[in-house]
Amino acid sequence: MLSGKKILLGVTGGIAAYKTTYLVRLLVKAGAEVRVVLSPSARDFVTPLSLSTLSKNPVYWEYYDKESESGEWHNHVEMGLWPDLLVLAPLTANSLAKIAQGQSDNFLMAVYLSVKCPVFFAPAMDLDMYKHPATQNNISVLKSFGHHFIPAENGELASGLSGEGRMAEPETILQHINAYLFEQAPLAGKKILITAGPTYEAIDPVRFIGNRSSGKMGMALAEAAAQKGAQVTLVLGPSALNSTNNAISIIRVESTLEMLAAAEDNFSQADWAIFSAAVADYRPKNPAQQKIKKVIGAEEMRLDLIQNPDILKTLAAEKRTDQVVIGFALETENALANAQKKLHTKNCDWIVLNSPDKNERGFGHDTNEVYLIGKNQEQIALSLKLKKELAHEILDILHQHHN
Ligand code: PMT
Repeated sequence: MLSGKKILLGVTGGIAAYKTTYLVRLLVKAGAEVRVVLSPSARDFVTPLSLSTLSKNPVYWEYYDKESESGEWHNHVEMGLWPDLLVLAPLTANSLAKIAQGQSDNFLMAVYLSVKCPVFFAPAMDLDMYKHPATQNNISVLKSFGHHFIPAENGELASGLSGEGRMAEPETILQHINAYLFEQAPLAGKKILITAGPTYEAIDPVRFIGNRSSGKMGMALAEAAAQKGAQVTLVLGPSALNSTNNAISIIRVESTLEMLAAAEDNFSQADWAIFSAAVADYRPKNPAQQKIKKVIGAEEMRLDLIQNPDILKTLAAEKRTDQVVIGFALETENALANAQKKLHTKNCDWIVLNSPDKNERGFGHDTNEVYLIGKNQEQIALSLKLKKELAHEILDILHQHHN
């Protein structure tokens, strides 16, 4: 669940701060990108060097770099906008009280006040401090802000006493975060098959018939689906794109026949199948085994083509009632009528209609504008925006209709 998630870890000054090195390691291992902000006194318990080595990111504790000549300014507002989650661990009684009151006397507190994401807090202190009504009241205040409480655990404390107050173990903190992300993931448990990119149809060993698809639309759908908790199989035609998300398994193919075979292998396991690839309708009938030579004096040459199978139509014909099939339609004229025809003839539940233009829609661009047409007469226009944003909107609409 943590793959690709941006986690900001806020560490305050208690002995449990030493455990944050292990927490950072666990988060990074789980695929998260981690940045750390320390309160000034946290540096007495754990070194910025350890945390930056483990997180592979700079660690901050003040508004500007007093030690370097550049005196670089660290913007707390930008830092607050960066994360998907803020984790405050360990949170001392003092910092807990400051947060409850909205005080901002150090960089970490200013970052906390600036974040827009969910906040988790794992208090750590001696048992009497933890039991004190002021502390318990402050915990309730943070809970009333909607922050996620990771209770302190029972055990031996740094004071030598034993009782409730030690910071939850890093594994437990990770479990809390994972459980939250799982609950938030609308597509958790779903398997989604996506075709994307162009196909290359060989003319000879060095030439092919292809098209201008970059794979961006399909990759955006794959990334968005994985972020929403789905397991994605992406059958990707020749494209420079890649993903480091563990929830996306990429099968790289070249031709339509290869794309069909890979999609066929994975179709029956899929809950949803999205066909965003730009597939060649025809391929050379007899690709040459050797590079075709130019014939001196021959002004023209002919290439015999043969029709490719329609991947979407072939697979949608075997669709079960529990499966949802989404086709794309790239139209340059009579767009709506043609897309509706494809919706029915290819047995789709939805068609995503788009029309290419040179500047901002269709092939290669980062942006697109689409029109969703459902088999139950739904028609939903999604205005021009980044393919990454559109992908989320398309999946949200599908989720509303097929939950
Ligand atoms: O990759 P990008 O640069 O980001 O560009 C995205 C895109 C423009 C390629 C994408 O948004 C898109 O429109 N994909 C579908 C392109 C297309 O081939 O449309 P079509 O109208 O020709 O095909 C209709 C549907 O049948 C599509 O779902 C297509 O994948 C499928 N098809 C078509 C032919 C074929 N032999 N097999 C198929 O599966």
